[in-house]
Amino acid sequence: MSYSAAVITLSDRAYRGEREDLSGKVLLSLLEGDGFFPVSYTLLPDDKSKIEEALIKLSDDGVSLILTTGGTGLSARDLTPDATLAVIDKEVSGIAELIRSESFKITKKAALSRAVCGIRKRSLIINLPGSPKAVRESYGIIEDILDHALEVINSDSALSCGE
Ligand code: MTE
Repeated sequence: MSYSAAVITLSDRAYRGEREDLSGKVLLSLLEGDGFFPVSYTLLPDDKSKIEEALIKLSDDGVSLILTTGGTGLSARDLTPDATLAVIDKEVSGIAELIRSESFKITKKAALSRAVCGIRKRSLIINLPGSPKAVRESYGIIEDILDHALEVINSDSALSCGE
């Protein structure tokens, strides 16, 4: 089954036009390559209420998968996890744990991402770190469980994992 997806890049500098949003482009091409359709794209500054509004709008519109990139770190303007936690109905901590634990095999700096994951309505929202390298690595870690996660979210009865 084909699912819709959305990429939201959070970056003050990219939003002001001071640098190109390479991470958003990477995510768009990874999602399209995996058959997600349609895939929308939004570029926002690191503004908590703007992030919340975008997540609410996309999930109200029924977008199946919402991937954010950026704003998960430790600086005062890194607010993506806080905005995500403010709008989700349920947290899916296992996906964030998986990304972090596999990322530790690549870099200890994975500890510097506060990324979270959760469900709002029927949308799965996953925070990814901001660099193109981190985005590629993180997406590669969760790529093969996305289909099953979305299948379960969109089914009205309990589904077995078949494992
Ligand atoms: N995760 C992976 N897999 N690879 C990385 O290179 N970089 C880390 C971390 N997670 C990284 C990673 C670094 S250096 C930071 S500061 C945090 O993600 C937060 O990134 P963000 O503020 O751009 O979201």
